[in-house]
Amino acid sequence: MSLKLFATCTPGLEEVLEQEVAALGYSPKQGRGGVEVMVASLKDVMIMNLHLRTASRVLLHLFDIDLPNKQSIYHAICERDWRPFFRDLPTMAIDVPFSSHPEFTNSLYVAQLAKDAMCDQLRKATGERPSVDTKAPQVQFSIIVDEEKASVSFDTSLEPLGKRGYRTESVEAPLKESLAAALLMLAGYTPEVILLDPCCGGGTFLIEAGLIATNTAPGLLRKTFGFLRHPDFQDEEWQQVRQQAFAAVRGFPHGKIFGFEKDPKSYRLLLRSIARAGLMGEIEVFHTDFRDGKLPAVPNFIITNPPFGVRLGEAKRWEPLYRSLGTLMKRGTQKPAVGAVLTGSTPLAKEIGLKPKKKIPVSHGGLDCTFCIYDLF
Ligand SMILES: C[S@@+](CC[C@H](N)C(=O)[O-])C[C@H]1O[C@@H](n2cnc3c(N)ncnc32)[C@H](O)[C@@H]1O
Repeated sequence: MSLKLFATCTPGLEEVLEQEVAALGYSPKQGRGGVEVMVASLKDVMIMNLHLRTASRVLLHLFDIDLPNKQSIYHAICERDWRPFFRDLPTMAIDVPFSSHPEFTNSLYVAQLAKDAMCDQLRKATGERPSVDTKAPQVQFSIIVDEEKASVSFDTSLEPLGKRGYRTESVEAPLKESLAAALLMLAGYTPEVILLDPCCGGGTFLIEAGLIATNTAPGLLRKTFGFLRHPDFQDEEWQQVRQQAFAAVRGFPHGKIFGFEKDPKSYRLLLRSIARAGLMGEIEVFHTDFRDGKLPAVPNFIITNPPFGVRLGEAKRWEPLYRSLGTLMKRGTQKPAVGAVLTGSTPLAKEIGLKPKKKIPVSHGGLDCTFCIYDLF
């Protein structure tokens, strides 16, 4: 058996994902918004879902519809037997992440068409049809449409893989876990460094670094995956994949991970997330302004996502903070060191007073941001 997968990620981060998939022993090919990879079995699907830190979803390709139009999409989907995916009548949804076809500029229309075709086939075959639940479906399919073809896939992740399970309450302006992992990798994080996030908020950088340092598979806390409802799913195989991942978790190496957070609510949530991630002894956090706090060690890796003021005129307020960050990077680090700042404001980035060696455009929370990486000598 050979399965074609498409692992999706935040656009712009395809290269990091490609490296991650290759490091798991596969041969990925970069595409738009993700990487394509051929694998041998559903076990590989489980491995990718459990281990990939930077992917959003792993889609399992089912079939293509050439030169799609309303009739051809409906008929091609109606012709398939969908019963194996719907044995106990789970709720379902169709996701249309991308449509660039003049007839289907409205992705909801494609989703509706595909859902009707699938439900009509099921009703004809079984007398029953599944209910649609777009918020928390139990089974999800994905359709990507362009003028040449429509590609239909089974979503083996279901919930985005960024939802690791350690953060249950929402903090203000949280960073997606998969994005934080990708940014750590882009900045060259290794477990030996002394890492500081001076404005750590919900602690996503700290926790993701902790998971990398302890070789903890990011999906180990998750309960839900789409592949659990694939017709070929075997629980024994899945338990084996999980057991191997548990066995690979190692103690914390020589490095250090610590952060500062001055907001009381964020600090409380931060402590809870660290505990849930099982990293209480590995990550140190201080409830204070980083400018007033005493550093427990001199860092050589600073990574942070400071506030930047989304509304017009708000950025001015944060200028002193960015200048302090610049001072911290220049004078408060053990050289050679790395600095890395994700911000949505170019003028504020300039206040840091250092020239980035790399500027990477990143979409964060629907905003165009820049990830600046500094070499500190
Ligand atoms: C954009 S949020 C960071 C989000 C974080 N990356 C996450 O994953 O949740 C910025 C955080 O910096 C904190 N902050 C702002 N100024 C600070 C300072 N001087 N010292 C410590 N924390 C600060 C804010 O309270 C806020 O929680």
